[in-house]
Amino acid sequence: MESFEPVLLANIQRPDSHTLAVYEATGGYQTLRRALRELSPAQVVDEVRRSGLRGRGGAGFPTGLKWSFLPADHPGPIYLCVNADESEPGTFCNRVLMELDPHQVLEGTILSAYATRATTAYIYLRYEYPLAYRRLQAAIDEAYAAGYLGRNILGSGFSLDVYIHRGAGAYICGEETGLIESIEGKRAWPRSKPPFPAVEGLFRKPTVVNNVETLACVKHIIERGADWFRSIGVPPSPDDPRDPGSFGPKLFCISGHVNKPGCYEAPLGISCRELIEKFGGGVWKGRRAKAVVPGGLSTGVLSVDELDVPMDFVGPVQKGCLGLGTGGVIVMDETYPMIEFLHNSCRFFAHESCGQCTPCREGTSWALQIVRRIKAGRGRLVDLDLLLEIADNIGIIPGTTICGLADGAAWPIKTAIRKFREELEDYIKRTNPTGYKTRRPVPALDNGSPSHKESPVSFQG
Ligand SMILES: Cc1cc2nc3c(=O)[nH]c(=O)nc-3n(C[C@H](O)[C@H](O)[C@H](O)COP(=O)(O)O)c2cc1C
Ligand code: SF4
Repeated sequence: MESFEPVLLANIQRPDSHTLAVYEATGGYQTLRRALRELSPAQVVDEVRRSGLRGRGGAGFPTGLKWSFLPADHPGPIYLCVNADESEPGTFCNRVLMELDPHQVLEGTILSAYATRATTAYIYLRYEYPLAYRRLQAAIDEAYAAGYLGRNILGSGFSLDVYIHRGAGAYICGEETGLIESIEGKRAWPRSKPPFPAVEGLFRKPTVVNNVETLACVKHIIERGADWFRSIGVPPSPDDPRDPGSFGPKLFCISGHVNKPGCYEAPLGISCRELIEKFGGGVWKGRRAKAVVPGGLSTGVLSVDELDVPMDFVGPVQKGCLGLGTGGVIVMDETYPMIEFLHNSCRFFAHESCGQCTPCREGTSWALQIVRRIKAGRGRLVDLDLLLEIADNIGIIPGTTICGLADGAAWPIKTAIRKFREELEDYIKRTNPTGYKTRRPVPALDNGSPSHKESPVSFQG
């Protein structure tokens, strides 16, 4: 990795980095002040579009393009929803930003609301983040008192109110339309699209949903310019005409069997190996890695010989994974049994499926039942092909279920079986040598929460 100066995490080491005084002392809110004075909302959108910023919440959709879908002549109100649900297993970078630099998140939010002409922003915050809640609320109060929020911000004529809406403790609340339903006071069942939120979102009004890290990037794009942002990362791949490139800094959360788990900032395109060795301090106890989740559980797994993959929006896809996802890197060492990985993944997605779509609801539970049976010593070799067939049918073709959870549920199964088939077959042969389908009962389902007794790796953020 060439020399790289962190920007998103630049302030977090300072004492009291979460306070307005410290944020302002490091130039905080000067970008907002300048933008409100010198730039029109369209110019802010244009700068973000030119920067090539792609959403950091998982799908990597270009942010400027998403904003341009808002109807130009809508009388309002327009809403901005800040997605701070962060439920993807292995992901905790939004938490670091909100706890240690909440004003950076707020400044990005205010700039983005100005660009999209939103007059109300809701921060949908994962309920399990109490410190982030207290710090964000304190930051909002400070920002109101200093004139950065509320009516006629800094005398510009632009007004914005920001509210925190605490989440309902389910993965599906992070899906953008599930999140919207939840803010409306309903069960977080994702909506069929179209209409997309940009046209008909919160309270049936045009709405933008963006991730916390995406909005923090907006602040730096407006401060330093689109060209600076494009100078970091990876240009479009010449092999893929649809690839718009992977630009800017990215937060990677490294967890599992590493010496120094944590949240680190690096340029997009850094290799997975470099992340683990330079930032994560290498695999613990001097062991080798066996498998690595590149970007949150739903992206699947890489095997140890795939670790030189560039961590940009196309690299993990070329290794058979779903994508870069959230950048949540989970390392499993050479002693970690892949049946545990399969079991933890299947249990998580079966528990979190909201149940609206048959392939997702039935497929995730069926896969879990088979994996539980294999784990309990009643597996047969044909089960692995059956699991692959189920995985191929859970999401069927992306777009045939209401939301992306189904597709995310399929990827850990597909990649674990394709890349670690030999180990899984050995496990089945060892635990059920006759291949006989006994009537021995399988242990009862637990409540779906990760069991630390069973697994040395926790799949929680
Ligand atoms: C099941 C599911 C869970 C999701 N959870 C989150 C989440 O916790 N945080 C997040 O920002 N995006 C999450 N997303 C992605 C959002 O739907 C949406 O694409 C994202 O918030 C858009 O922001 P961005 O363009 O800034 O990435 C999830 C998607 C799915 C399908
Ligand atoms: S794909 Fe799964 S989680 Fe998403 S709406 Fe359908 S049933 Fe619910």
